[in-house]
Amino acid sequence: MNNDATRYPSLERRVVFITGGGSGIGAGLTRAFHRQGAEVAFVDIDDAASQALVEELKAETGRAPQYRHCDIRDVAALQAVIAEVGHTLGPIHTLVNNAANDDRHAWDAVDVAYWDERMSLNLRPMFFAAQAAARQMIDAGGGSIINFGSISVQMAIGDLSTYVTAKAAVHGLTRSLARDLGKHGIRVNTLVPGSIMTDRQLEKWIGPEEEASIQARQCLKLRLEPCHVAPAVLFLASADSLAISGQELAVDGGWG
Ligand SMILES: NC(=O)c1ccc[n+]([C@@H]2O[C@H](COP(=O)([O-])OP(=O)(O)OC[C@H]3O[C@@H](n4cnc5c(N)ncnc54)[C@H](O)[C@@H]3O)[C@@H](O)[C@H]2O)c1
Repeated sequence: MNNDATRYPSLERRVVFITGGGSGIGAGLTRAFHRQGAEVAFVDIDDAASQALVEELKAETGRAPQYRHCDIRDVAALQAVIAEVGHTLGPIHTLVNNAANDDRHAWDAVDVAYWDERMSLNLRPMFFAAQAAARQMIDAGGGSIINFGSISVQMAIGDLSTYVTAKAAVHGLTRSLARDLGKHGIRVNTLVPGSIMTDRQLEKWIGPEEEASIQARQCLKLRLEPCHVAPAVLFLASADSLAISGQELAVDGGWG
């Protein structure tokens, strides 16, 4: 635990809903919001990692975040969980649209079914989670929605066209929703991670050579980890960012 972490009194007892909160960057978000005293509910499909995280935080703090198994490709199930969390914990104040999947695919192997499935995971749930959560936020007088983009939008990475397309669309989604929801006191922003060394990234895509070349591109010669992303998300959820909406905040070590 980072004992130097900034405390945000405005996050205490706030209901925070995180997609993909069981591992990777999402687990860092679950930990960070929980340690702020927020009431965290998260969805994921990795039951083992999610339940281990719940136990870890329960042992650390004596209270537990709420885990619900939910495949976010199922819009009805996702919106039902959001409604249920609103009934049991109170209105959602912060929605973090974090879950995504960056599986590689050859451009000429993508068919319509695969394209649609990728969008149903990497883009569609962000809109429908926001739609369901915003209804609660409007009744409660405001809130914060943080959508996860990706540095890959600025890069020319091959074998990733459906993911990069979805991530590029996140910027438009954020800006348009910021306009629709701003009148209700709801802020919508995009968090743009750089290359974050999660377990999955290290297992699947990034070896020592790739990591060296990533650090060469970063202004800061630092291994970026989930603990570097979470503080920026806390800020965007807190009252300290009350006048910030429709923006993109990169946590990428200064990519160039
Ligand atoms: N790690 C990076 O370098 C990096 C870079 C740029 C952007 N991002 C973005 O940051 C966010 C988090 O990425 P990450 O690296 O932690 O990913 P990750 O794959 O490590 O974690 C994603 C989490 O989402 C869950 N998930 C996957 N499919 C799901 C589904 N259908 N329903 C519910 N949950 C599901 C996974 O089980 C996992 O817990 C994503 O939006 C990703 O695109 C990450």
